[in-house]
Amino acid sequence: MKVAIMPSDKLIEVEYGTTIMEALRMADIRIDAPCGGNGTCKKCKVKLITEEGEHTVLACQTEITGDVTVDISRKDEGHRILMGGISRDVALNPAVRAVTVKVPEPSTSDLRSCWDRLRDAAAKAARIDPALIRPNVELISRLYCTLEENKYKVDVVFCENEILDVVPPGSPVLGLAYDIGTTTIACYFVDLRSGAQLAQGSLLNPQTAYGADVIMRIKYSVENGVEELTGAVRQALNSLAAKCAAEAKKSLVSVYLITIVGNTCMHHLFMGISPASLAYAPYTPAVTDPIQARAADYGFSVNGSAKLYMLSNIAGFVGADTVGGALAAAMDEAEKLTLLIDIGTNGEMVLGTKNRRIACSTAAGPAFEGALITYGMRGAEGAVDHAAFRDGRFVYSVIGGVKPKGICGSGIIDLLSELVRIGLVDSGGRLLMGDEIEAEEGKLFKDRVRLINGMRAFVIADEAESDGGEKILFTQKDIREVQLAKGAMAAGIRLLARRLGVSVDDFEVIMIAGAFGNYMSPQSACGIGLIPPKLGDRVVGIGNAAGQGAKLCLLSAAEYRRAESLGKSTEYLELAADPDFQDTFVDQLEFPAK
Ligand code: FES
Repeated sequence: MKVAIMPSDKLIEVEYGTTIMEALRMADIRIDAPCGGNGTCKKCKVKLITEEGEHTVLACQTEITGDVTVDISRKDEGHRILMGGISRDVALNPAVRAVTVKVPEPSTSDLRSCWDRLRDAAAKAARIDPALIRPNVELISRLYCTLEENKYKVDVVFCENEILDVVPPGSPVLGLAYDIGTTTIACYFVDLRSGAQLAQGSLLNPQTAYGADVIMRIKYSVENGVEELTGAVRQALNSLAAKCAAEAKKSLVSVYLITIVGNTCMHHLFMGISPASLAYAPYTPAVTDPIQARAADYGFSVNGSAKLYMLSNIAGFVGADTVGGALAAAMDEAEKLTLLIDIGTNGEMVLGTKNRRIACSTAAGPAFEGALITYGMRGAEGAVDHAAFRDGRFVYSVIGGVKPKGICGSGIIDLLSELVRIGLVDSGGRLLMGDEIEAEEGKLFKDRVRLINGMRAFVIADEAESDGGEKILFTQKDIREVQLAKGAMAAGIRLLARRLGVSVDDFEVIMIAGAFGNYMSPQSACGIGLIPPKLGDRVVGIGNAAGQGAKLCLLSAAEYRRAESLGKSTEYLELAADPDFQDTFVDQLEFPAK
């Protein structure tokens, strides 16, 4: 069957019965598939144009049975990805450094090889034992010409005891730091001579086409192999690097060091490691050690000798991103009892001080990122990002100041917290209707709660108010999704405290990392009991701490070593194995009483 894909004008041929989603993947086009193609999220709608006319279908559920045109054009939503975050000043001392060297010219009295003369002079300048420096054959192949062209004065680029390159004096020495999130990828392009950030970039993780959360991606890679997912993420990292280099007007050939953080699944999939062990209890990772490798072996189009430094993982569901966040937050020096929560597609937490830290992960799911919520969307133009009932009116704000298309995580938390506060949602999570509503303030808004397609729903915006001309709803099912996510996180917080022998009231600082943590209102998070209600004034948003941790490791070899010891010294609590988890989880499903 012939499939024309608009607006890219690609034309491919597929077998009869191939789904549109499969066809798009064959054409290297990835559209969002938060439910992993199960037909439940309804977020993969495309326009199908056949001889009979055009209609909107779910790409994952629609088989191609004739020649068709598929229109996937959507307005670019300009997703909001958080780049900045908590960081610290560190002494610039990257693992990669350039040393200016005057190499002796060959003469009848010095018949040593080009490499010997370079190695000995470079070792002396860098104060390294020359016996530790191994030959770099790729470099040696062009060494004579490089030395001649530069009149025997060159910069030697070292990574620890290894010579990576020989370049004209003053040539750029650059690095890239990445945070591979389940949903988004952030990239920082840094001048390693000055420590200055030259550019930064971000994009949605193309693996979202295989499911919104790590479980769906693990399942896909166990069934189909890791190649597709590995290829997709490596391609994304390269395209971000190219974008940053173009913006900074630099060449990627000058990139000698790359640091990467990501959750354990993202780490494994990037490295081409099967995440199968994460699929089955007791969910062990394939590797936790920090990994140092040659960047080119992992698909990077940078200098052929460039190094790749992966930060360590802690456990199957507490990965290098948590280590990076804890490093940026300097939890290994914390005097105050600190809770670090990274609320992304999953919820990872670390509780403790410089003396002892314990981490856990909660299967919060992607509800806080808008996935699996009927009108949920990421924080992009058209998303309701804040909502409140004020002076008898329902008010909300929309990113970009346009008509609303859906609701993102911060809006979801606000709305639910407010629905609980005014008595439209009871402590068990039931959305109340008509005479069930007892609270006076709730009664003012009873017309907004309706039975739609057999399900209770709160109307955020009606047809006239919304962008697409259809009602935007927050349904009873959506409330249950958020309730499960917040129950899991709140239970994790309590069990961490119990394991550490402290009470939640003892927490002195609550750091919330991740985009959602940055935009959500701490009061609303307390309002639904995601964070212990009394602790709202101890909450600080720390932005993309994981990405900042990767950047610290790029700027300082000492920080990279510190990340390793932080990862090793952080204990891990497996919530699923904790006998109190189930009871605590059930307790924490309740919304705080008003
Ligand atoms: Fe198609 Fe979810 S309904 S990906």
